Amino acid sequence: MKHRMTAIALVAGMLLTGSALAADLSVKRGGLLYDKWYAGREKPETNHPLYPATAKKKGAATWRCKECHGWDYIGARGRYAKGSHFTGIKGTYQVAGKPASKIEPMLKSGNHDFSKMLSDADIRALATFLSEGQVDIAKFVDSDNRALGEADGGKPLYEENCASCHGTDGGQLDFKGKKDGVQGVGWLARKNPQETLHKIRFGHPGSDMPSMVVDAGLGEKQISDLLAYAQTLEQ
Ligand code: HEC
Ligand code: HEC
Repeated sequence: MKHRMTAIALVAGMLLTGSALAADLSVKRGGLLYDKWYAGREKPETNHPLYPATAKKKGAATWRCKECHGWDYIGARGRYAKGSHFTGIKGTYQVAGKPASKIEPMLKSGNHDFSKMLSDADIRALATFLSEGQVDIAKFVDSDNRALGEADGGKPLYEENCASCHGTDGGQLDFKGKKDGVQGVGWLARKNPQETLHKIRFGHPGSDMPSMVVDAGLGEKQISDLLAYAQTLEQ
């Protein structure tokens, strides 16, 4: 089924203009870089120069875009308003919709310059993600961390797109030796629906998990329903 989906996505892709397809792939690449740009590369060792000395994380983690700007893209106004991830730094959602060419310089200046560790194509991908790939979190998750979609609609989507790797109960994590139930998809979807949403939309860095936006071509409503169903999974 997955192969057929990929074939359909490919044919659909070929019907789009080359540049629209390239932009799609760039959004996915950018979304994965936003999550953890150093996956599969050399990790930074020191703290990021903009990471506040009073905040709690150390080393490589302080270089992840999500660590300062949030899984929900609203920084100190969102999930990271308090707790072990608090930095007080604002989000990136305000740049959504701006041309990527206007966003690129923001990733190349001063203490926020990533051009020494990331290629031009990476920076462009990040800017494309920030321009086209961010969502308004309030459309997907309420202030009590409940997904706003309909779980009934998400069930068949989960079974088609996720169960082959994560099991029908969310707990079949047959990678990195995690034990059943320790940190399944349901657990993460309830604890951190903002992170789960980002991963559903773009995939998981350094894995073959597909992007539901780019590889599966799902729309906002379908993704919202998928997240709601993920919150009902036992594991
Ligand atoms: C250590 C914390 C930190 C990390 C990591 C970080 N940023 Fe930032 N970022 C900041 C700060 C601080 C600002 C400036 C905010 C301000 O103007 O008050 C900023 C500003 C921005 C802005 C401009 C926002 C605006 O409205 O002007 C964008 C876009 C941005 N960051 C994207 C990213 C991306 C993409 C990454 C990952 C490659 C990233 N940031 C990683 C701290 C960080
Ligand atoms: C081709 C296999 C595959 C498919 C299909 C897949 N995933 Fe994944 N997923 C992975 C792998 C591998 C990881 C990385 C887990 C790790 O390294 O701990 C992952 C990670 C995750 C994570 C983060 C777990 C964590 O602890 O950080 C979530 C949440 C997730 N997947 C949900 C989903 C959902 C929902 C779907 C369907 C929309 C899906 N995945 C489809 C393979 C897959």
